[in-house]
Amino acid sequence: MKYFLINILLAFAFGIILIGCSDLQNNIPVTPQLSAHKPGNLDPTSPNFHGNIVKANNWNMKDCQQCHAADYSGGTTGASCKSCHKSPQGPEACNTCHGNFSDTTGTYIAPPRDLNGDTATTAIGVGAHFNHLYGNSISTVNCSNCHVVPQSVYSSGHINPGQPAQVNLTGLASTNAASNASYDYNAASCSNTYCHGNFVFSVDSALPGDQFAFADSQMVGNNKTVTWNKVDGTQAACGSCHDLPPKGHIGYQQFPITSCVACHEGVVDDQGNIIDKTKHINGKVNVRGN
Ligand code: HEC
Ligand code: HEC
Ligand code: HEC
Ligand code: HEC
Ligand code: HEC
Ligand code: HEC
Repeated sequence: MKYFLINILLAFAFGIILIGCSDLQNNIPVTPQLSAHKPGNLDPTSPNFHGNIVKANNWNMKDCQQCHAADYSGGTTGASCKSCHKSPQGPEACNTCHGNFSDTTGTYIAPPRDLNGDTATTAIGVGAHFNHLYGNSISTVNCSNCHVVPQSVYSSGHINPGQPAQVNLTGLASTNAASNASYDYNAASCSNTYCHGNFVFSVDSALPGDQFAFADSQMVGNNKTVTWNKVDGTQAACGSCHDLPPKGHIGYQQFPITSCVACHEGVVDDQGNIIDKTKHINGKVNVRGN
């Protein structure tokens, strides 16, 4: 009974303290050590890693800006995102979530390092990005041939929660005969693209001085369907997208690769190496040094 009374008294007193505290709370300055993050915030292997928090929030960093300032310079937290995310855009830089995180030139913004952290070319998010964009010795390809490129991280259409990246084959990919170019998400394959040989050049459209090169009414490519995450060199071998020279071209299956330079100088050398990437797979006929 005695303890029971003491308990009641204690509970009463505690209640008053609690009420007092909640009255006072607005005036207490927030102590960062108590208010901010869980342990592991800076450990990339931890589920509490700050990047994982952003990812779980559909890559939205607007919450972070409320405390770390609109320009991520730290604000009242004193903890600037830019101490590590050093580009002018801070964590909104294009290589924060995909591409090479350590690149300071702003070049390597496409996977590898896809959104799951994968770097193997067999991962769908990685695939043949590097070979098209950065390690391409036969042509020049831009993001915009396959995707709409956002101006900033919050541009509409960029991040669509629950959906894979949008592949949108345009420009060079769908020029000439290739208006039916398409990407199949289930098979991770591209079909009917101009780049991989869905082209038709007709004798009727050729300059009179070039018509001698037609053995047929048309020259056509091989229109290959290619698998995005099969990166073993076979799908971009010389002679895969078009025969050497293509069907319908004089000397079909007779001209050696060392002969192309005679008429396509400026594009290839006398060994059949592409010497000017801007003239190969550019949508145009390039002959006589043009
Ligand atoms: C002490 C250094 C440091 C600070 C400060 C920092 N980051 Fe990071 N952040 C990193 C590192 C390192 C990575 C990449 C980790 C990896 O992929 O291995 C990263 C990755 C990220 C990612 C990508 C996560 C992913 O899974 O791809 C986002 C988004 C991000 N940070 C946002 C922020 C924001 C917002 C702030 C400030 C509120 C901030 N960071 C402050 C070091 C830091
Ligand atoms: C309620 C305010 C608040 C919000 C919201 C907030 N932070 Fe923080 N953050 C802090 C404070 C305060 C610190 C500094 C003390 C600490 O580490 O707890 C901090 C520190 C950090 C650090 C460590 C920086 C360093 O140099 O050690 C990282 C990384 C970070 N925050 C990332 C984020 C990310 C990412 C978000 C959004 C998902 C976010 N924060 C949202 C208050 C906040
Ligand atoms: C030759 C076509 C092509 C080019 C060029 C290309 N991409 Fe992609 N991209 C793809 C394909 C295909 C996928 C996989 C889509 C899927 O999920 O099936 C993809 C996926 C992605 C993803 C999602 C990765 C993931 O983890 O799911 C990002 C991010 C991306 N691309 C960014 C870029 C950027 C940035 C550039 C330019 C610097 C670029 N891409 C250029 C074809 C391309
Ligand atoms: C905060 C993380 C983050 C940052 C920063 C970021 N991206 Fe992305 N990006 C994504 C995600 C997530 C996707 C997958 C899109 C989806 O969900 O449809 C993506 C997809 C893409 C794609 C593939 C096409 C698409 O929209 O699906 C391109 C291209 C791309 N980003 C370019 C950029 C560029 C350019 C920047 C810099 C201006 C940038 N990204 C900055 C997270 C980011
Ligand atoms: C990824 C597909 C692809 C591969 C691989 C490829 N080509 Fe082509 N090539 C094309 C396309 C498409 C054209 C059509 C014209 C254009 O747009 O340049 C073309 C055109 C040409 C032309 C005519 C000149 C011109 O550009 O108009 C020559 C010569 C040529 N290729 C030689 C080669 C040689 C040699 C190799 C191997 C080193 C090769 N190609 C590999 C797609 C390819
Ligand atoms: C005798 C000259 C000559 C030689 C040798 C020659 N070409 Fe051509 N080729 C032409 C001409 C001219 C055209 C232009 C047709 C037109 O205007 O549509 C052409 C067109 C092409 C085209 C389709 C349209 C274009 O320009 O892309 C390809 C692909 C091509 N050649 C590849 C080759 C390859 C590969 C070789 C070597 C194996 C080769 N050619 C050797 C004269 C030649």
